[in-house]
Amino acid sequence: MKYLIGLDVGTSAVKALLLGSEGAVVGSHTVEYPLYSPQPGWSEQNPEDMWRASAEAVRGVLAKYSISPADVAGLGLSGQMHSSVFLDEQHQVIRPAILWNDVRTTAQCRTIEAAVDAEVLREEVCNPVLEGFTLPKVVWLKENEPENYAKLRWLVLPKDYVRFRLTGNLAMEVSDAAGMLMMNVRKQVWSRPILDALGIAPDILPPIIGSSEVGGTITPEAAEATGLKPGTPVVGGGADNACGAVGSGVVVPGRGMVSLGTSGVILAHLAEPKLITEGTVHMFNSCVPGEFYMMGVTLSAGLSLSWLRSRLGLEEVPYDVLTKAAETVPPGSRGLVFLPYLTGERTPHGDGNARGSFVGLSATHDQGELIRAVMEGVAFAFCDSVELLRSAGWDGTSLRALGGGARSPLWKKIIASATGLTLDEINIDEGPALGAAILAGVGTGIYGDVREASDAIIKVVRQVEPDEKWQKVYRGLYQVYKDLYPALKPSFDRLVKLA
Ligand code: XUL
Repeated sequence: MKYLIGLDVGTSAVKALLLGSEGAVVGSHTVEYPLYSPQPGWSEQNPEDMWRASAEAVRGVLAKYSISPADVAGLGLSGQMHSSVFLDEQHQVIRPAILWNDVRTTAQCRTIEAAVDAEVLREEVCNPVLEGFTLPKVVWLKENEPENYAKLRWLVLPKDYVRFRLTGNLAMEVSDAAGMLMMNVRKQVWSRPILDALGIAPDILPPIIGSSEVGGTITPEAAEATGLKPGTPVVGGGADNACGAVGSGVVVPGRGMVSLGTSGVILAHLAEPKLITEGTVHMFNSCVPGEFYMMGVTLSAGLSLSWLRSRLGLEEVPYDVLTKAAETVPPGSRGLVFLPYLTGERTPHGDGNARGSFVGLSATHDQGELIRAVMEGVAFAFCDSVELLRSAGWDGTSLRALGGGARSPLWKKIIASATGLTLDEINIDEGPALGAAILAGVGTGIYGDVREASDAIIKVVRQVEPDEKWQKVYRGLYQVYKDLYPALKPSFDRLVKLA
């Protein structure tokens, strides 16, 4: 049997997953690496850490399952979207990567909107201008660190930086390139009108490659670092959400996914591109060639619960034990609402100044109620994205659930009841790394095509239905939740200035 490796360069860790060519997961190895927040609203990581963790994760998975490197048919890459890796002429990293959940670029978003005609933006990138995307980060570098901007020769995203370290080839895979706000999403070419309007040299952007295209092979140096055989093919792969869709079977129009990782995502597959003119819904290229997806992103989903756990001094407590305390709390957390805007918010507000809040706190609220309110607040953020996807034409009735948070039966029931949708549990919940491994299989000819392989490997095994009583409570509470952001917005803006 041959093996495929899916390597997901995430925000808190890199995961290397081993998939047998017949479609069963062998196992995985995860290596964590640090995230830095030098100022409120800033979020950075060192690309060298991404590479070190990637090499260690691959070496670890091969050793753990005693796999001979000669039996690895190929490796596919997945990674956190939008985060900028700035390289100089010698391919050295210029400064720490500015991540997807960094909200320092509000002013640069306005600069872009002023410099590029709204119609051109819409036609070219098919997306709103939001802080987390890559283009505002480049403009920020230009305006705030001109000495670093002067050194900028290449711009890549995390997984494509790891590709460079693995293969020596600089290439940008298409589903990730879409999230940079610099690519014409429909034509899949770098957007000259946008780059020219902002005075950004187009040659800082490497060639675009397909998700299941081989984008290089393992070099002798990378073989030394990872334990892989020199010459092993490295396949394009995809943005983590695009790979999450492949790894959960969301590869058919109408199917949708809820991903509950550090960020939270509601995603729907599209056969055709959709120009969404209102709101903060994103529309990017799928890993199914020529197809697309739209999604809403809440920045602090799993992050909200991990934040609460650490602030309660309970870091050592496993999540299933932590959430036990919330199981006995009635829906609505006895009048407590949480807004999960710990790092600003992407969908629906597109507001880097938004901040997390508990509203309705009373002296009687206890730990279980705080925990449940956080889980419910994230579910309401998902309701916002579902509403926007619905008005953009999505008519699905269920979502495939994936990500660490989706392991919680309570959280799934809360999300099902808040959104009114059925949550589908799948047979293999390995997320983006599985999608990347499937793409490696397609790229190396082991599987015929992405849709076929994903559909053959991933099945729905159980369904979580909304609870009618909870639904009734959540209907009322969601209205309260929705009213809070506009009411608090002026205070958020003032507080950010005082922080
Ligand atoms: C998507 C986004 C996040 C990251 C998480 O637009 O910013 O979901 O991809 O890694």
